[in-house]
Amino acid sequence: MIRSKIAGTGSALPEKILTNHDLEKLVDTSDEWVKTRTGIAERRIAVSESTLSLSVKASRKALKAAGISAKDVDLIIVGTVTPDMVFPSTACFIQAELGVKPGVPALDLSAACSGFLYALDIADKYIRSGIAKNALVVGVDLFSRIIDWKDRSTCVLFGDGAGAVLLTPTKGKSGILSSHIHSDGNHWKSLYTPGALEPSPFSSETGSGSYEKPFVTMAGNETFKLAVKTISNACIEALESAGLSKEDVTLLIPHQANTRIIKAVRQRLKIPEEKVFLNIQKYGNTSAGSIPIALDEAVRNHPVKRGDVLLLVAFGGGFTWASAAIRWT
Ligand code: ACO
Repeated sequence: MIRSKIAGTGSALPEKILTNHDLEKLVDTSDEWVKTRTGIAERRIAVSESTLSLSVKASRKALKAAGISAKDVDLIIVGTVTPDMVFPSTACFIQAELGVKPGVPALDLSAACSGFLYALDIADKYIRSGIAKNALVVGVDLFSRIIDWKDRSTCVLFGDGAGAVLLTPTKGKSGILSSHIHSDGNHWKSLYTPGALEPSPFSSETGSGSYEKPFVTMAGNETFKLAVKTISNACIEALESAGLSKEDVTLLIPHQANTRIIKAVRQRLKIPEEKVFLNIQKYGNTSAGSIPIALDEAVRNHPVKRGDVLLLVAFGGGFTWASAAIRWT
């Protein structure tokens, strides 16, 4: 049976560090509030970097770690809601920048914080079906571009960053064992960013003429409660479908949105603290960048060993949610 495996990982973060103390000078907040309510101490903010430059840097690292040349990549999927342009897609720009062969399919998808796991799921299916052999999967977001920096309820939460993986086929019992993606558009008003498109001369106020500023808008409490329940269920779904139990998990890599969400999930699932990867304190919520950045740090610094079971889980705007169980090769 052909599965896909993660052959290499990479990540890239902007140089500028914005601490909670820096934010105290912008809005009515405190380091203490942000740390106790979210676990975040600082985040990275793009100054000279772009969605493309961070994606390319992360992708080059993933290709190098996998020992694969860009010329051999035959699929590029990017999860992002903050592309540099409306079109072409970030994936097309990456293709040109890396020198991936013309003709190779390259696409962006929109699933907010679940974007990377959505992209991974689709790339996994392309590899399993034999259509692709070397799939580059990127999760990247620059929320600093869609944040209202006067809104203390959102500006303290997010940061910028990118992560990438290179997927290749494998035979046997390792690799991506199970992967699931879901959405429920009924809750969209709890977490959204309106478009920055201009009304045309023909638009009506209630249709495409209604214009809101393109800032992240979130009902934090409602999102929090749904996130805990949904993430817990998504973890169980990935494990059961892979024939694994909670005890088999070596490392849980959850979307880094809030340490209190992660703690509640961990307690529900009875997974010990030392088996949960956290880097939210350094980067905040980097949306689609969150899981691949955490995965790259876990692989490079933790380190992850052959045979380890990794459980990846995300939740984000849409609502969207996704999970994957991986046996490391
Ligand atoms: N500094 C100081 N006080 C603040 C701040 C701040 N930065 N932000 C809000 N407050 C105040 C509020 O005004 C409120 O004051 P009040 O009691 O006088 O009205 C009080 O703090 C409590 O506010 P809550 O919103 O109830 O705080 P809560 O404990 O719920 O924490 C948070 C807010 C951190 C946003 C939390 O609800 C959360 O993490 N939600 C989920 C986020 C998430 O998972 N998002 C999904 C992924 S993101 C994506 O897909 C793009």
